[in-house]
Amino acid sequence: MMPASSMALAPAPAETPDEARCPYFVVRDPESVRDVLHRPADFSPANALVAVTPLEGPALRALQRVGFALPPVLASNDTESHGGIRKVVAGFFTPVTVAAMEPRIRELAREAAENAADQLARTGRADLVEVVAAFPPAVVMLELLGLPVRDLADLKRWGLDSMELFWGWPDGDRQLELARSAAEFYVWLRRLVAESVTAPGRNLFKSLAGHGLSGTEMCSLGYFLLIAGQETTTQLISTTLFRLLEGAAPVDWKEAASEAGAKSAVRHVLATESSVPTWRRVAAHDTDLGGDRIQAGTEILLELSGNRITGGGTPSDPSPYAEAGRGSSTGLIFGSGIHRCLGAKLAELEASVIVQEAAAALPGIQLRDHEPEWIRHLSFQAPGTVSVTDPTGLTGLQANTGPG
Ligand code: HEM
Repeated sequence: MMPASSMALAPAPAETPDEARCPYFVVRDPESVRDVLHRPADFSPANALVAVTPLEGPALRALQRVGFALPPVLASNDTESHGGIRKVVAGFFTPVTVAAMEPRIRELAREAAENAADQLARTGRADLVEVVAAFPPAVVMLELLGLPVRDLADLKRWGLDSMELFWGWPDGDRQLELARSAAEFYVWLRRLVAESVTAPGRNLFKSLAGHGLSGTEMCSLGYFLLIAGQETTTQLISTTLFRLLEGAAPVDWKEAASEAGAKSAVRHVLATESSVPTWRRVAAHDTDLGGDRIQAGTEILLELSGNRITGGGTPSDPSPYAEAGRGSSTGLIFGSGIHRCLGAKLAELEASVIVQEAAAALPGIQLRDHEPEWIRHLSFQAPGTVSVTDPTGLTGLQANTGPG
């Protein structure tokens, strides 16, 4: 194991205010990252949903006005109740359920790719984040949870806004805007929870109410899951599409139209610049890591994949997190131990199928914008747009003469 002293306290990334220093103890060595994740009594997940930038008065008041609260339930729960709640949620994402969802995922992926082809044929351009990557993961998640598929555009906006509010570096004015959006989301969620617990059939909130969770606890869980369960996958797909079209993936766009090609491109992005490149823990008491003393309350930033925040890994120089022999080819990307991501299989499946169908349906496309704006928060990253054209006209041809 690498001594903790080799885990430097990284300087603040360029995107944060100039003079700010990184307040985290950054852990990059995979063995040490695993060690932290496997010692939840020493390194608590209690800070998982704490705002990276402390919220100012106006933003806090906008949240308080709607009774916004995120009590620890799942990702930030370091008490004994975590295991039982996790089991209830896991029941909606079993390997069998996820595998059975593949035809539906493919159907949604084809529909989205056809929409992109239509748009290219009509207007000569399309944003693949909006048309291909954004909506299928949200539909799949809501269907798996037994929840109504509605207000998808709002859900996407709320997810992005909340990610920025809790994991970004917004100034006071931006915080207020984002807090108003988060409050809107929370009110919508509270209504959804109330409606779901008496709705016919099985759904997430009914099961959680049966397990004894209060309305506030269910809103807290829903707030995290309805973002984590779809926006992270959208972002993984966005980065994969961008790197493939840029020619920076191990396979080319044509090869990505096969199942193996798409899978390999997705795994490459997971290893080099996953949509969730870092995750946090906090030292629950004075402890040690790799021989170094860690004081109680030290905030720990774990590097899970390459990113611009801790400076680890790049597409051409991957970090070692996906090495074989670490249990799976995606290593620590989805965390490890008792809080490991419940959607890992689903996310990989969705990303591979959606990338594959897009590459198959849009053979001649090229990037229009090689330098899009990127979402770069502490624990989330992806290009905000993947804008393409079709100089060959091949896609238009397919859209006009394709089956059906
Ligand atoms: C590319 C997509 C995704 C990535 C990279 C990702 C990554 C992660 C990471 C790093 C964690 C923290 C693990 C830890 O603390 O050890 C996590 C937790 C979690 N993820 Fe994901 N995730 C993704 C998609 C999903 C999806 C699709 C779902 C649900 C369908 C989901 C549900 C969860 C849940 C429920 C937790 C908390 C588990 C617990 O605390 O017990 N995630 N995820």
